Amino acid sequence: MCGIAGYLGPKTADSVLIVALERLKYRGYDSAGMAVMSEGEIHLRKAAGKLKHLADKLEAQPLSGHCGIAHTRWATHGPPTEANSHPHLSTDGRVAVVHNGIIENHEPLRRALKDQGGIFVSETDTEVIPQLISTLYRAGGDPLAAVRAAVARLEGSFAFAVVFADQPRRIIAVRQGSPLIIGKGKAYDPAEPNREGRTEVFTKGGSTAARELMIASDAPALLPHAQQVCFLEDGHLADLSDAGVAISTFAGVPVEAKFKPIEVTAEAVSKGSFDSFMAKEIAEQPTVLARLLESRLRTGASGVEIVEPDLGLDLKAVNHVVFLAAGTSWHAALLGKRFLEQLARIHVEVDISSEYRYRNPVASGGTLVVAISQSGETADTLAGLRLARAKFIPVVALVNVVTSTIARESNGVMPLLAGPEIGVASTKAYTAQVLALYLFALQVAKAKGLLTPEAEQQAIAAARALPEQVAATLRETEEEVCEAADLFASAQATVFLGRGGEHPTALEGALKLKEIAYVHAIGYPAGEFKHGPIALVTSHLPVVCMVPKDAMYEKMLSNLQEVRARSGRIITVGQKDDQHLRDLSDHLFGVRQAHDDLLQPILSVLPLQRYAYHVARRRDCDVDQPRNLAKSVTVE
Ligand code: G6P
Repeated sequence: MCGIAGYLGPKTADSVLIVALERLKYRGYDSAGMAVMSEGEIHLRKAAGKLKHLADKLEAQPLSGHCGIAHTRWATHGPPTEANSHPHLSTDGRVAVVHNGIIENHEPLRRALKDQGGIFVSETDTEVIPQLISTLYRAGGDPLAAVRAAVARLEGSFAFAVVFADQPRRIIAVRQGSPLIIGKGKAYDPAEPNREGRTEVFTKGGSTAARELMIASDAPALLPHAQQVCFLEDGHLADLSDAGVAISTFAGVPVEAKFKPIEVTAEAVSKGSFDSFMAKEIAEQPTVLARLLESRLRTGASGVEIVEPDLGLDLKAVNHVVFLAAGTSWHAALLGKRFLEQLARIHVEVDISSEYRYRNPVASGGTLVVAISQSGETADTLAGLRLARAKFIPVVALVNVVTSTIARESNGVMPLLAGPEIGVASTKAYTAQVLALYLFALQVAKAKGLLTPEAEQQAIAAARALPEQVAATLRETEEEVCEAADLFASAQATVFLGRGGEHPTALEGALKLKEIAYVHAIGYPAGEFKHGPIALVTSHLPVVCMVPKDAMYEKMLSNLQEVRARSGRIITVGQKDDQHLRDLSDHLFGVRQAHDDLLQPILSVLPLQRYAYHVARRRDCDVDQPRNLAKSVTVE
């Protein structure tokens, strides 16, 4: 979704901001723009489409100021044209705004502002913000008061940053529902702006009062300039100037700006030697799983054991779990249900966040809501969490970004420790979620006295074998995956079938293919396939069947035969030495066998991630930034 960035410091703002926008791209965007202050004016550059178009414009016509705001836009109101891209200006061109979120009452505001002479040039909801602030500023003369008065009239969920032509070294940033982070960098002398090189760093040995300041929707966009970060809270605004950062509530009550060292590194947000973030993140999975697992184990008197998470909850009292999630995280939740039912014998519901938030869910004394979200910012999951908390249901967050809103608003947090996930299609966060849910189910089982020490040791051994099995599976399936991708890259559609724990894998395999290769794909419970979708089978349809050697093996073979009998093209995911399965398949992605069947989906999904990647490549798709998608869905 839309990304915001802002810079105030000694460097030329456009060179800093274009890098920040590059780092925000992964959130999903379809146009970009920038406003930089110089000589008492606001100078704009905007471009529809790829960020490169904006970079080319800046190359041809650089902007020379040291303070500016920038934006990647994911279209909601109005198509992704240059006119609709941000920043948006007031009619007099003296106020510019970049915005993330939705202004729900933009229509009445637009009508009122037009009546007062405002001229609107875009179809966006955003444009009412600079118009409104400008009107209030002209009437009162105080920028901060104008922003506060404007915010009081805005409805919806948003974050925005505003600059004023006659306040050349000042950015005011507002947060109400969408994330916004402030970054603080090196000290410099504001009296001596750097007018030499476009990227030259200008400092005076840290002896002066001013520090480089930035704002961004995401921490990676603050790199490499920021050394410390402060997370703006909902209902707060930040006033950035050479005097520093002043935070206050919308009502004007000062709030202490709490900065802490930035944790994300530039290396973690670069592709390294890989051709895409997705390829890098798939390859990182052995390390990610090992790190997560070891963080949850402790060597005690009786050997290695699973650590109780410090969730501030009595897990023994939990008798009903509701998982809230969207997209890939929802697939992980489906596996979480299996784990909790099987290991802890408790009742579990899995809800899609956007559905849960508009129902009137029933809560009993032992209900626990677990919000699963890689980003921790998905608007629907956040709204579901808030609904649960309003009903006094405790909420635990399973998130990758521990500084996210969902993490901060939950009673307890289970971190994934997967490192930044930049590719829009979730890969390493998904397998980490599945492992984390397995460990959580074991903990609940242990708290309830349902996990014997022997069973705990077996589960730990099975989990500890995973990183090596993941690495081996990725290595050993690659050739076959490439061959299948060569053969089926031009297929119009693909079906994924699975049962039990492999049903979520089938859903995930189909989602990956849709997301990044734009192939129509469905994941289906194999037993349900003959109730309709089997009509799709022709000799042109690849059908991916998940056939690990588990309790569903024979049933899956029958389903596979049904597809074969109708000439479907069969790709299977099963054990690599399963000769019978190989004989029945056009292609077998031979995976390693998990030591606990519950963990098998972590291995089975790996060739499907690589298959989607290779099909996408062969179809010339941008695997990291697929069309229309956003990494972090911060609007409804
Ligand atoms: C978007 C992303 C998906 C992701 C989903 C949920 O749709 O494109 O990859 O699975 O949001 O995101 P979350 O951060 O809540 O896990």
